[in-house]
Amino acid sequence: MEGKGFTHFLDLGCGLGRHSLLFARHGFTVDSFDLSREAIEGLATKASSLALTNLTARTGDMMKLPYADRSMDCLLAYHVISHTDSKGIHTIVSEINRVLKEGGEFFLTLCSKKSWSFTEAGYPKLDEHTIVKIEDGPENGIPHFYCDETTITQLFTHANLISIRHIQDCMQNGTVLNNSWHYFILGGK
Ligand SMILES: C[S@@+](CC[C@H](N)C(=O)[O-])C[C@H]1O[C@@H](n2cnc3c(N)ncnc32)[C@H](O)[C@@H]1O
Repeated sequence: MEGKGFTHFLDLGCGLGRHSLLFARHGFTVDSFDLSREAIEGLATKASSLALTNLTARTGDMMKLPYADRSMDCLLAYHVISHTDSKGIHTIVSEINRVLKEGGEFFLTLCSKKSWSFTEAGYPKLDEHTIVKIEDGPENGIPHFYCDETTITQLFTHANLISIRHIQDCMQNGTVLNNSWHYFILGGK
């Protein structure tokens, strides 16, 4: 991304900020954004202790990003934007498109409908593409949007899809392995 002349990076759903810190160390102007106040406060403290004055961390909801139109060169949303339903995903993708500059790029992940959690786990369905995870842990009660290749092309009609990888992880569940599939999408505006 440095070679492309990109300087302004948005880490959407940054969590504890592992990618934000990496980009800040490489000299990017970094905006880090997450719903979790605890995560954002922790990241701000860490950035300050490392004297990374080029990193700004803010709390908020990805449904309405507090950034100007065409203000970002590049954007990462790693395991973030599937935390919504079929209506919400369109709003989030539209917000990503709004804040990216012409010629900017995004790299994001989406849950795949091939995953065990969508096909077999028996989680309640909110709509055709969305389940609500019922499990121990932080994802309990959170909606998850799942897609396939058709859904992706429909969501990103405005974008140039540079590469799409469909990757399988296996998670141990007793004596069996459950499949978890994600799309890793690099796109340009
Ligand atoms: C699986 S974590 C990924 C964190 C980070 N991208 C990483 O790779 O380390 C998902 C993150 O998305 C954030 N998130 C979930 N819903 C969100 C929303 N509506 N707006 C902003 N962030 C959200 C969560 O707080 C969490 O930090």
